[in-house]
Amino acid sequence: METLQIKTGTKEEMYKTLVQQLHGLWEGETDLIANLANTAAAIHQTFGFHWVGFYRVVGEQLVLGPFQGPIACTRIAFGKGVCGTAWKEAKTQLVPDVDLFPGHIACSALSRSEIVVPVFSSDYQKQVVAVLDIDSSSLNDFDETDQRFLEKICLELSNGT
Ligand code: SME
Repeated sequence: METLQIKTGTKEEMYKTLVQQLHGLWEGETDLIANLANTAAAIHQTFGFHWVGFYRVVGEQLVLGPFQGPIACTRIAFGKGVCGTAWKEAKTQLVPDVDLFPGHIACSALSRSEIVVPVFSSDYQKQVVAVLDIDSSSLNDFDETDQRFLEKICLELSNGT
């Protein structure tokens, strides 16, 4: 299935197009892994980031889930690296320069900046069930616009499944 994409315009416009595309991709699909997979692919296709993917909470660790980009570390402990910190604090981590983030896990030497957004369970407990990890090969590539739209995407993702 080929979806028409408009890859021009402001970042805000690109996110709005992406969100519409995701609504179409998620419609009628309740399987979490399937939706994580298409979400990672759509974000990657829209912005061309170095690495876009999910880690799922499995017991005491984050375990690699659907992603687009180079091969990556498969397991991350609670509180470790940017992903483990997002899980522990249940809060988005915006990292302008990964070299300045204590304990950053360098899966790829090309990663320069990063954003990690938690995905919460849709029940009343609102526990972190996964994180969305996006790595860029450019320094300082993420801002509040990315945070706002990616948090919206992660919220809708968990509500719809
Ligand atoms: N950089 C991440 C590890 C995951 S890889 O970048 C895909 C971190 O420090 O959590």
